[in-house]
Amino acid sequence: IARIAAAEIAEATGVDHHDIALTLGSGWAKAADLIGETTHTIPASDITGFSKPAVVGHVGTLRSVLLPSGKRALVIGARTHYYEDHGVRRVVHSVRTAAATGAKTMILTNGAGGIKDYWTPGTPVLISDHINLTADSPLEGATFVDLTDLYSARLRALASSIDPSLDEGVYVQFRGPHYETPAEVQMAKTIGGHIVGMSTALEAIAARQAGMEVLGMSLITNLAAGIQKTPLSHAEVIEAGQQAEPVISALLARIVAEL
Ligand code: 6GU
Repeated sequence: IARIAAAEIAEATGVDHHDIALTLGSGWAKAADLIGETTHTIPASDITGFSKPAVVGHVGTLRSVLLPSGKRALVIGARTHYYEDHGVRRVVHSVRTAAATGAKTMILTNGAGGIKDYWTPGTPVLISDHINLTADSPLEGATFVDLTDLYSARLRALASSIDPSLDEGVYVQFRGPHYETPAEVQMAKTIGGHIVGMSTALEAIAARQAGMEVLGMSLITNLAAGIQKTPLSHAEVIEAGQQAEPVISALLARIVAEL
């Protein structure tokens, strides 16, 4: 099914090979305009296995972007979240499609809650590792995949060389769509987590299975429940994303230019 989607993308764009893929989560969408020249924009719902965005703040398109280096990027502005209940295969379909277009590098971005109390909304952080609390896996049957260095140390070092102030943390994927309770956030902290969110980990596993090198970045849109004293809201997440968007998108574009 990913092969079918990749063939449809090739047909719709006339581009049969992409080198890099980016999934742009809350706050990161502007990066699509900064990394290069968009030659084709496709409504994701035209492609097999993709659906219309379920959430305000997500864009719902696939773009083929020509980078200044001559490389091609597939920009995925349409993410199926695990909490939408379409199953884990649908969640990772975009990653498998990206791999089927030839992409060897997968950049996964998201908006997420921060556990480190010195982070402020609008801070971009590198994902150093993850803890998958969905109790699910995109791998079928007895597929044993090594996840050591899942979030490429090489790509993290490259990102840090561009912005030495970048902090990093362990991303904890919860099912959502509710935000965590303060007790769950304390649990995430106790087990070694620094970032809480509702995406990315399952996608990263599928990317690794497909042999891609993964870079993960979170925009801290708010501190997690109990870390910040005020209630969490989706409006706040969107707002923080919009505020930070120009800065983090420019950072991501500089990273992509070095790939
Ligand atoms: Cl606090 N939790 C989760 N799971 N996702 C988020 C978030 C928190 N803030 C933004 N996205």
